[in-house]
Amino acid sequence: MEKRYRNFKIIIKDSYDNTSSAVADIIADCINTKANTVLGLATGGTPVGAYKKLIEMQSAGKLDFSRVTCFNLDEYHPIAATNDQSYKYFMKDNLFDHINIDPANTHIPDGMAADVQTECIAYEQKIAAASGIDLQLLGIGMNGHIGFNEPASAFSRVTNYVELEASTIEANSRYFDSADEVPKHALTMGIGTIFAARQIVMMITGAAKANIAEAAVLGNITPQVPASILQLHPNVMLVMDGDAAKNIIARLA
Ligand code: F6R
Repeated sequence: MEKRYRNFKIIIKDSYDNTSSAVADIIADCINTKANTVLGLATGGTPVGAYKKLIEMQSAGKLDFSRVTCFNLDEYHPIAATNDQSYKYFMKDNLFDHINIDPANTHIPDGMAADVQTECIAYEQKIAAASGIDLQLLGIGMNGHIGFNEPASAFSRVTNYVELEASTIEANSRYFDSADEVPKHALTMGIGTIFAARQIVMMITGAAKANIAEAAVLGNITPQVPASILQLHPNVMLVMDGDAAKNIIARLA
């Protein structure tokens, strides 16, 4: 099912697997159109299926990452790259180690940076030197965050050092032995950085995200729901499963 709402193109699939395929197809089209595509990538549970599909496409010879550059949204701080909960480790494990991307073209904020402000400025400069992001893949947090831009973050902010909300620490503790082990800070692209991407693909799956998806897409544009700023972006696709889209479907019917 496809719907249009304001500037959003909303693609709704019947399962997580088909949602993942749809996201992978959009990314593959972008790379097949522009071999030196600059991708913005996300971690978390949501995009794992799409990354698997991309790996399959590359193994089948349908995709070539050799000229692709990637910038990830965020990284915990402090966290070592060798820690299996770091986003650096996650990206290697779930995508980079299985495709023909040049590791030198994969960028993630340094979770061990001694000077976080310098690291944030350098990250923005690297994105600018790559001529900006062609396609930014996003998930959404239960509180509406994108990247680690928690509610009340300024829409104009670029890459920065942030304190994580208790609810985000709690949500992400499922990957750690306990909530105490989740780092309390992160380096994240700002909402301004994300908004500057030429195309945005937001993937939302699962019934638990139905309320926040509705607020982000149909609610007020407010820093209290960081993803709501996407209502103003000229080129956004929302790729959702029916569970995540159920409130939106009901209201747009
Ligand atoms: C990840 C990120 C986060 C996640 C969000 C949803 O790089 O920036 O904003 O996209 O927390 O996470 P999941 O997919 O685990 O529900």
